[in-house]
Amino acid sequence: MTDNSFNPAVDEWYYPDEKYRENANAPDYDKIYAQAAKDIEAFWGERAKSLDWFAPWERVLDRSNAPFFKWFVGGKINIAYNALDRHVKTWRRNKVALIWEGEPGEKESLTYWRLHQEVNKFANVLRSMGVKKGDRITIYMGRIPEIIIAMLSCAKVGAVHSVIYGGFSEQAIADRIEDANSRLLITCDGAWLRGQVVPLKETVDKAISKSPIVETVIVVKRTGQPVSMEQGRDYWYHDLMGLPIASPRFESVEMDAEDPLFILYTSGTTGKPKGILHTHGGYAVFTSTTLSWVFDLKDDDRWWCAADPGWITGHSYIVYAPLILGATSFMYEGAPNFPYPNRWWKMVEDHGISVLYTAPTAIRGLMRFGEAWPNRHDLSSLRLLGSVGEPINPEAWRWYFRVVGKEHAPIMDTWWQTETGGFMITPLPHVALKPGSATRPFPGIEIDIVDEEGNSVPPGTDGNLVIKQPWPGMLRTIYGDADRFVRQYWSQYAKQGWYLTGDSARRDKDGYVWIIGRNDDVIKVSGYRLGTAEVESGLVSHPAVAEAAAVGVPDEVRGNVIYAYCILKAGYQPSEALVNELKDHIRQQIGPIAVPTKLELVTSLPKTRSGKIMRRVIRARAMGMPEGDTTTLEE
Ligand code: WTA
Repeated sequence: MTDNSFNPAVDEWYYPDEKYRENANAPDYDKIYAQAAKDIEAFWGERAKSLDWFAPWERVLDRSNAPFFKWFVGGKINIAYNALDRHVKTWRRNKVALIWEGEPGEKESLTYWRLHQEVNKFANVLRSMGVKKGDRITIYMGRIPEIIIAMLSCAKVGAVHSVIYGGFSEQAIADRIEDANSRLLITCDGAWLRGQVVPLKETVDKAISKSPIVETVIVVKRTGQPVSMEQGRDYWYHDLMGLPIASPRFESVEMDAEDPLFILYTSGTTGKPKGILHTHGGYAVFTSTTLSWVFDLKDDDRWWCAADPGWITGHSYIVYAPLILGATSFMYEGAPNFPYPNRWWKMVEDHGISVLYTAPTAIRGLMRFGEAWPNRHDLSSLRLLGSVGEPINPEAWRWYFRVVGKEHAPIMDTWWQTETGGFMITPLPHVALKPGSATRPFPGIEIDIVDEEGNSVPPGTDGNLVIKQPWPGMLRTIYGDADRFVRQYWSQYAKQGWYLTGDSARRDKDGYVWIIGRNDDVIKVSGYRLGTAEVESGLVSHPAVAEAAAVGVPDEVRGNVIYAYCILKAGYQPSEALVNELKDHIRQQIGPIAVPTKLELVTSLPKTRSGKIMRRVIRARAMGMPEGDTTTLEE
C-alpha cells in the first residue's frame, strides 16, 4: 500500500570501495548469479555443505508435488546443532555469541559454551514436561536472552515454536494459541519499554482465559513486578532451571530436513493471520548463506540486527543465521530513544558494532532528532549497514549513508518476506547502489515483474513481483491450511508455477528493482505488517460497531498509518469518548501497533453494488486525492 511518492533517483549511483570485494564472503555477483541460474540444485547443494548433517540428502530439490516443494530430501539435520553444538567442539567455544543490553542499562554476554549449556538445560526441562517432536510451543517474551534460549531449546527437542511479538495483545495471542493448538507457553513477567514495564504475564493470563488449551506456562523473571502464578499451571523458569533434571547435557534430536522448525503468524488479506511454516534444513541453508554473503560476517564482526526476535527478521537474522555462522551478535531490549535519542549511537560506540541492520522507520524516527545525536559518538566501527521492512526513501537512505555510515559503509537494502525466510532481492557489499532500490535478486533467486497474465512488463512499468524458481528458505505451507497456501501464493500464476509475492515493483533501465509496496490489503505500519481486515474485525468485535473500514495512509516517519471509519449500531451516539474507547479496544485486542491514528465515526461507507467496501476510494479521500473510477460505487 505504500505510495512510491518519491521519484526514484535512478541515475544516482554509489560505487562501493574496492575493499568490499577483497576478502568478501560473496563471490563476484555477475559470475555467481549466472552460474547459480544455470543449475539451482548444484548451487544450493554446494551451499548446504557448509552445515553439519547427521545424514546427507539424496536429492537437493523435489518438485514432484509442486507447490509443495521439498529441499534436501532424506537429509538429517538439526538447526540448533548447527547453531551451537558444532561450535563448542571448536575454538569458538569461548567466543561471545551474544552481547545483550537491557533498557535500564544492564549488560550481559554469553559465549557459545554458555549459551549451549543454557539451551541444553532448558531442552531437558521441556522434555521433562513431556514436550515431544512436533509439539507446538508458544513464546511471548521481550527482547531478552531467554527468548533465544527458548527458541533454540524447542529446535533441539524437535518442537515447533510459535513466537508471538511482545507488542501483540490478548486476542491476537489467543487466536494464535488456538490455531497452533499449543499447550505450553513460555513468557516473562514483563518487559522494559521507555522506562515502563509492559505486563506480558498479565496479558498471557487474559489470553489463556479465552484460549484454555494452554496447560503449562513457564515464566522468566525479568522486571520483578508482582504477577499472579496459577498453581499447577505456572512455573518460574529459574526454579525449573535449578532442578537436577535441568542437566547441561542434551543431544540434539535428529530431524528430517523437511521437519517443521517454526510457525510464524503474519497478516494476510483476511482477518485470520497465516501461520507461515518453515523447516530445519532448507531454512538453515538459506538464512546462513544470505547472511554470510550480504553482510559478509567475519569472526571479528559485531553484528546488530535491531529487529525483534518475534518477527521473521529476528528469527532469521538475530537467532538462527548469525549463530550458524558462529558470529557475535548484539541485542538491545528497549526503545531506540530511551532515555535520550543517542541511545542507539551510544551502543554502537560502546560495543564497537561493525554491521548494523535496521528498518527505514527507525532511521526516519532517529533522523527527526537531528544529526547532533549521532555526531556525539564515534561510529567509525561501522563498515556495513542494512535496511529491511519497507521501501527506504532516498532521503532517509542518504542520511543513513552520510551521518551513520560516514559515506563509506554501503547500505544493503534487503527485500524479503516472512514467507521467503531470508533475503531475496538485495545488493552484495561490492554491488553499485542506488538509494531506494534493493538492486537485484540474490544468486539462485529468479524473479520477474509481470502483468496480470504473466507477461514481463518493460522497464519503468509497475507490475506484480513474482518468484519463478523455488528456493530453500521458502515457506512450506500455511499451518493447518494447505488450501489457503495454494490459493494465496500459487494460484494467480498456477500455469507458470510462480510464487506471487503480493508486492508491486518496477525495474529501471539498468535492471535494478524498485519495490513500490503491497498491492493487497496489507499495510506496513512502522515496518510491521498488518492486515486491514484484522483491524476491521477488531473494531467490529466492539458492541457499538456495525461496520468498519481501515486503510493505510502514507506517513513521513512510520511509512504508513491506519485510518479507520466505523458505522455505529443503532442506539449508539458518536462521541469523543467512544472514539477513544474504540482505540483502546484495538490496543487491548490486537496491540498498540494496530491502533488507528485517525478513527472517524461515519454514517455510510463507499461500497460497490455487490456490497464490497471500496478501500481505494476511502484511501483517496483520506489523502485528499482524486477518487478515480467510481462507476461501480453504490453508496
Ligand atoms: C515489504 C519483512 C521494500 C514488502 C522481512 C514485503 C520491503 C513485506 C523491503 C514483507 C524492502 C520488506 N524494500 N519493501 N527492503 N523489505 N518489504 O513479512 O512489502 O514482515 O512484501 O517481512 O515488507 O513483510 P514481512
